Amino acid sequence: MNPATTILVLVGSLRRASINRQLAQVAIDQAPRHVRMRLFDRLAELPLYNEDIDTADVAEPVVAFRTAAAEADALLVVTPEYNGSIPGGLKNAIDWLSRPYGKSPMKDKPAAVIGASLSRYGGVWAHDEARKSLAIAGLRVIESITLSVPTKTLDGKHPAEIADLVRTLRGVVGDLTAEVPG
Ligand code: FNR
Repeated sequence: MNPATTILVLVGSLRRASINRQLAQVAIDQAPRHVRMRLFDRLAELPLYNEDIDTADVAEPVVAFRTAAAEADALLVVTPEYNGSIPGGLKNAIDWLSRPYGKSPMKDKPAAVIGASLSRYGGVWAHDEARKSLAIAGLRVIESITLSVPTKTLDGKHPAEIADLVRTLRGVVGDLTAEVPG
């Protein structure tokens, strides 16, 4: 068991009452004691990626994001699907994470993608696309970790009230932690 594993958590939805934020919170709450879950909640503060501003004096939120990424051992993305793909804010964050080219602060670190969406497939397109982008950005995507929740199945409940879902989220965190080299 790695005594000091840190998992960086990104939520693709920016809205306050986000179901994906709720799922992320349950995952955070279910983490074993030796795992530190760090939610980076500032995706809306990241400027749109532009190579002209990706310089030594890059904006402070980018520095904070890359520092959090460098300090983390793994990445958990919890996202809805927007128009058959990933929300723009999340894609922008992945673009910042992917640079410097070949030297991402999360290079070769394990990553998992889960989330909830309105459609009956639970956002599986977005989850597949996030996996594709993260892999191209240099992370080691764990394809076997999947969870795409159709929001209707929550029946208006908070995910914390659904025992099966809580158990599954605990498993997601456990499986991702197990991918971190000891
Ligand atoms: C959506 N939604 C959505 N759902 C889906 O299953 N497939 C899709 O392509 C889209 N597209 C889409 C675009 C935009 C701009 C919005 C705002 C929403 C619905 C979406 O899954 C639903 O609102 C989720 O509840 C959003 O997640 P949060 O905000 O609750 O975490």
